Amino acid sequence: MISKKLQRARDFEKKYIPYVEEELPKFHVTGGIGWINDPNGFSAYKDEYHLFYQYYPYDVKWGPMHWGHVKTKDFIKWERIPVAMAPDQDYDKDGVFSGSAVEMPDGRHLLMYTGVRNVRRRNGKLESFQTQCIAIGDGVNYKKYDGNPVIRGDQVPDNGSVNDFRDPKIWMEDGIYYAVIGNRAEDDSGTILLYQSKDAVNWEFVSHLASCHNQYGKMWECPDFFSLDDKHVILTSPQEMKSLGLEFHPGNANVCLIGTYDRDIHHLMRENVQAIDYGLDFYAPQTLLAKDGRRIMIGWMQNWETSGSHLQNQRFLGQMTIPRELHIKDGRLFQNPVRELENYRTIKTAYKNVLISGESTLPGISGRYIDMTITIRPGNESVMYKWFKINVARDGECHTSIRFKPETNLMRVDRTQSGLPCDIVHMRDFPVYPRNGQIKLRLIMDRYSLEIFVNDGEQAASFVIYTPLDAKYINFISDGSVLIDVEKYDLEID
Ligand code: FRU
Repeated sequence: MISKKLQRARDFEKKYIPYVEEELPKFHVTGGIGWINDPNGFSAYKDEYHLFYQYYPYDVKWGPMHWGHVKTKDFIKWERIPVAMAPDQDYDKDGVFSGSAVEMPDGRHLLMYTGVRNVRRRNGKLESFQTQCIAIGDGVNYKKYDGNPVIRGDQVPDNGSVNDFRDPKIWMEDGIYYAVIGNRAEDDSGTILLYQSKDAVNWEFVSHLASCHNQYGKMWECPDFFSLDDKHVILTSPQEMKSLGLEFHPGNANVCLIGTYDRDIHHLMRENVQAIDYGLDFYAPQTLLAKDGRRIMIGWMQNWETSGSHLQNQRFLGQMTIPRELHIKDGRLFQNPVRELENYRTIKTAYKNVLISGESTLPGISGRYIDMTITIRPGNESVMYKWFKINVARDGECHTSIRFKPETNLMRVDRTQSGLPCDIVHMRDFPVYPRNGQIKLRLIMDRYSLEIFVNDGEQAASFVIYTPLDAKYINFISDGSVLIDVEKYDLEID
């Protein structure tokens, strides 16, 4: 039996998405209509990959959360499936918040999420109670478990908050279910709680896997935990971060903790802490283990601070990043677009050793659906260039610029002139690390986004650009002389 709320959301999607389809990015996931935030339930199920997301179909702003649903075979072409869950139970009446999914040994698909129930206090304030719940289904329809919630507030240890207790990431190992859950600890900052269960219904607390101790922001949202190459990794999205140099920007940030997992005390021994993505629009990423062993991450390509920004009459807001393959190299997180993207490359335009001094354009180098790699090196070893800039999504009025300064090794991405009609933060600086005096940038563009991968995935930076689609030109400008190689492919996704 489908609840009225779920049926209403399904009918709404069916009625309106066909009208919006033409306006959507071609290979980045959106809700089709309305608002989305975090990726949820990113999982291998049967012979496909499923992705759910925080979803409010009825407006382009956050509202009572549902779980929207898509699936794919190759991470590039996605198929829409009707909304999976609505906030239709007493324990989740104020939101089916973020969570994850796993294939059960008996072939069913298990979703684990945070149910939110707000209670109005005598002083008029709303208090939000967050518990962990499950739903089981077949890849299309899901039934919430009658005994929900399966992890209640009284199972939060050590005076942790019952109001900030959310975003379970579940996985299975040697027949046991594990889940990491974000929590606000007694010291008011984030901690990640590890639980285990034999049946996904009865859960016991295991350990504090990692804690913030007020070092990286406050509440840690949307934790993920996995082994990668010979290390273990935690991804989390801290709220109320203070900027830490150019590594972590203030506000809603993203953090990757890399280290060794001490299985005796179930704790991550940290060896390196870094940003996951250096762009303006990235939050709450989630990973899955693909059938061929790849660890693949997808993130919300937006941020709470930037999420009020869109075009007039826009009928969808929020999109996901391109799924990215993760690795650890020299103690750092590397990420590159899934290799399946290459199957959608069409026309190739390539140049080698082009000398840029001042402003140039190159025939065939333009577009808003492109996969383009540019290698940048000095044109003259004895007089170093001052800066080199690429302007993309350009016409007479708009552009977004990517500028590199060799003296400071700083990359600056500036979308102030990208056409967004709001004065939010539009610019980000981040340090990059040239190799043999060269910087390599891979740019992925899909209508309203620009994702940059530096030096074969050593860093990634994601940006939303709501620039009119006829602004598709690209130029190169330098102060001093620069040599570049360019390899550009148009992308064709039908
Ligand atoms: C992160 C987050 C989660 C929560 C969800 C609600 O962006 O705040 O912690 O579950 O969004 O939509």
